[in-house]
Amino acid sequence: MTALAPRVCVPVAAHDDFDGWRDSARRLIQAGIAPDRVIWSLPGAVAGDLFAGDPPPDLAGDAPPAAAPPVLASRDYLELAGRAALHADPARFDLLYRLLWRLQTAPRLMDDRADRDVRAIDALARTVRRDIHKMRAFVRFRVVEDAHGETYVAWFEPGHHILRANGGFFVRRFAGMRWSILTPQGALHWDGETLREGPPADRGDAPAGDPAEALWRTYYASIFNPARLKIGAMVKEMPRRYWKNLPEADLIPELIASAQAREAAMIALGGEQAGRPPETLAALDAAVAACRRCAIGCNGTRAVPGHGPVDARLMVVGEQPGDHEELAGRPFVGPAGQVLRDHARTAGLDLDAARLTNAVRHFKHVPQGKQRLHQTPTAREIDTCRWWLDAERHLVRPRVVLALGASAARALLGRTISLQQERGRFVPLDDGAQLLITSHPAYLLRLGEAARVAEAARFAADLALVAGA
Ligand code: URA
Repeated sequence: MTALAPRVCVPVAAHDDFDGWRDSARRLIQAGIAPDRVIWSLPGAVAGDLFAGDPPPDLAGDAPPAAAPPVLASRDYLELAGRAALHADPARFDLLYRLLWRLQTAPRLMDDRADRDVRAIDALARTVRRDIHKMRAFVRFRVVEDAHGETYVAWFEPGHHILRANGGFFVRRFAGMRWSILTPQGALHWDGETLREGPPADRGDAPAGDPAEALWRTYYASIFNPARLKIGAMVKEMPRRYWKNLPEADLIPELIASAQAREAAMIALGGEQAGRPPETLAALDAAVAACRRCAIGCNGTRAVPGHGPVDARLMVVGEQPGDHEELAGRPFVGPAGQVLRDHARTAGLDLDAARLTNAVRHFKHVPQGKQRLHQTPTAREIDTCRWWLDAERHLVRPRVVLALGASAARALLGRTISLQQERGRFVPLDDGAQLLITSHPAYLLRLGEAARVAEAARFAADLALVAGA
């Protein structure tokens, strides 16, 4: 009878320490230690200690044994393993090591999608990817005042060990604000320059609501369309376990329950929705300034409110404030605004008598050195911000609305338009105002000389139509 080879217990320093695990795995393979002899010991686990032995000598040193054969790991494997390592399944490192072991004699193993281990690692990696995306979508920051001013705090309960892996995303997204994300597994704190880690937190450590939350809930209720309700799809996109931390989610059961009645009411109202918009422009501006309901609102820039008379007959809607506008706090004060003003003057349009505003109220940009480069808002961001524009139109009640570019047109019509097909003619809006769509003045700035002359003529003709109206 042959003696059983001793088992080795190999610690993994942290639940998401894929690099450390990979290093140990490489040494184990080089030392020829088969998967059934390895016990991966995770932080806080006790079961492995029952069989624990000392790490073999090869694992104790820094360098692999001299003349050890190279360890083979395909790119496919490393990509899936990096993600699967973040799964909460306590047996994940056994699986990863078994696959790595098998890869040494079957380098094409990852191509065999019928293999049980390959299917298992793929499933783990997919679950983790989904959890990463859900965290990006469902983290909700609440504003808190501390000794240094405003900071944003979110509570989130990830299903897997994804917090650190998601840190870079939140730093890039919310580079300009101070924030903390608290989770039961640990915390991340960003002060605008450095990302620090903190100990596991408690739900009670995070604030429960902020002043914009009531507005957001009202808005969510108003855009919730019972006629389009598909509960299965909704739960798939927004799994129930995330609901408890979303300010809008406690409305969902009630909204679903009353969906049929609301659908009937909507039909009776001719499709009007029942949100409660702010009652003055000042209240609107204050609410917009506190809005953090999309990534742009959370990027640390200040909201730029509409500008111009409250009873203006003409409203000019741009895409979003740019660098100059964000600094000045007023729309259309930068280069695109200059182009607009020059053409408006020629067309006989008095922009001082018009209300100037934007589809999106914060400046979406990417930092590049000392510059902030404009980024086009997504349709979803425009739709999220649309409520503010609707509220502003409701308060100003312009007779004519000029949409500059496709983003503005989407905010006014609620759909993507073809600028070339739909520009230059009046169409009625839902409140009876006349809408005319034209190009955005920044577009003129990007064109070469010949194209600019042609586009400027079309732009001028469109503005002349508005002046005539
Ligand atoms: N571009 C816009 O669309 N809006 C502004 O306010 C400035 C530039």
